[in-house]
Amino acid sequence: MAGSVVSDQLVVQSQSGPYTVYFDDHGMPDVARFDDRPSHCLIDANVAKFYRSEFRGLLAHRNTVVIEATEDNKSIENLIPVFQLLVADGIRRDHTLVAVGGGIIQDISCFIASTLLRGIQWRFIPTTLLAQADSCIGSKSSINLAGAKNILGTFKPPQDVYIHAAFLNTLESKDVSSGIGEILKVHAIDGEVAFDRLATDFPLLRTDKRVLQKYVRSALCIKRRYIEEDEFDRGVRNIFNYGHSFGHAIESATAFEVPHGIAVSMGMDIANDIAAERALIPREHYRRMHSTLRKNYAEYSLTSIALDAVLSALMRYKKNTTAELGLILPVGENASIQRVMIVPDDVFRSQFAAALARVRE
Ligand SMILES: NC(=O)c1ccc[n+]([C@@H]2O[C@H](COP(=O)([O-])OP(=O)(O)OC[C@H]3O[C@@H](n4cnc5c(N)ncnc54)[C@H](O)[C@@H]3O)[C@@H](O)[C@H]2O)c1
Repeated sequence: MAGSVVSDQLVVQSQSGPYTVYFDDHGMPDVARFDDRPSHCLIDANVAKFYRSEFRGLLAHRNTVVIEATEDNKSIENLIPVFQLLVADGIRRDHTLVAVGGGIIQDISCFIASTLLRGIQWRFIPTTLLAQADSCIGSKSSINLAGAKNILGTFKPPQDVYIHAAFLNTLESKDVSSGIGEILKVHAIDGEVAFDRLATDFPLLRTDKRVLQKYVRSALCIKRRYIEEDEFDRGVRNIFNYGHSFGHAIESATAFEVPHGIAVSMGMDIANDIAAERALIPREHYRRMHSTLRKNYAEYSLTSIALDAVLSALMRYKKNTTAELGLILPVGENASIQRVMIVPDDVFRSQFAAALARVRE
């Protein structure tokens, strides 16, 4: 595989020690660098197809497993055969698992790396925008169980992360929007100035690679501040679920027809709408962000989303307590993103129904 010059890097401090994110805006990964110890690889089927010649050696290796990136395949039920293959291939505690793909391959690999043999090292080559700009740092794995999204999980940071912008050239448009959804979320959390700057540059994200790469880096820099303070998501990191309770519910209610980051864009719009309706923020904040969020989910706005299905998925969301919904909403004059406990009464249900209807206008 052709080697390339790594242009810059970001170091993330974790409870298990620091790990490095390497950025390369031009070349493809040099997997020969992973020969320092025996490796097993889980690679996304589309990446294997698009980059067959670049990954020729890796794909020919008997320790490489090609996986289709579907929500079904990141269910605990469908992970058992992957565990079995790795065990049959003789995986040991001093081996490394190399993950090549987007958020789904990451979730599968991180979960396996944190549980198999009570933990092995893993490395990550993220190939989607969402994984490059957001999920590749933060240590989380999230696995589905019997249709409940991301209900199982672990924390285990990768040993290192290799971001190659060239992978983004083959992404489908919906997967670019999905990644942009998470970039919007991270900048919204950083505050009004960061979000508005990104909103101004929004059209350039698809036309100017340098602008996109600037926002990939700034998203990771913003996220790093929070995960270094709260790696295990017990406090301040919680606000990274902004847009997610509603977003996950939309994903579940549409059988994952709406891609994750696009559902999160809808989720943020709904969160802002409900916050305005409950007078937690001036409605002006909803309007300020709405046009950008809408542009990012517009191609899915007419997707059929059954209110009952989305409401029942929302009630099952894992951040709830027994009696209340734990929602991440904007609060106050400066719309700071916070966790708010809300009783899911009739008032809330009608506010939610109205917000969902506005998303679908
Ligand atoms: N663990 C975390 O911290 C975390 C954070 C956010 C999201 N997630 C999870 O990540 C998942 C979404 O991840 P995603 O958006 O990266 O999508 P994905 O992994 O589902 O990939 C999306 C599509 O892009 C294809 N693909 C991947 N790389 C490609 C490339 N370079 N060229 C062409 N096609 C390519 C895949 O085969 C798939 O069809 C969700 O399950 C979500 O819950 C996890």
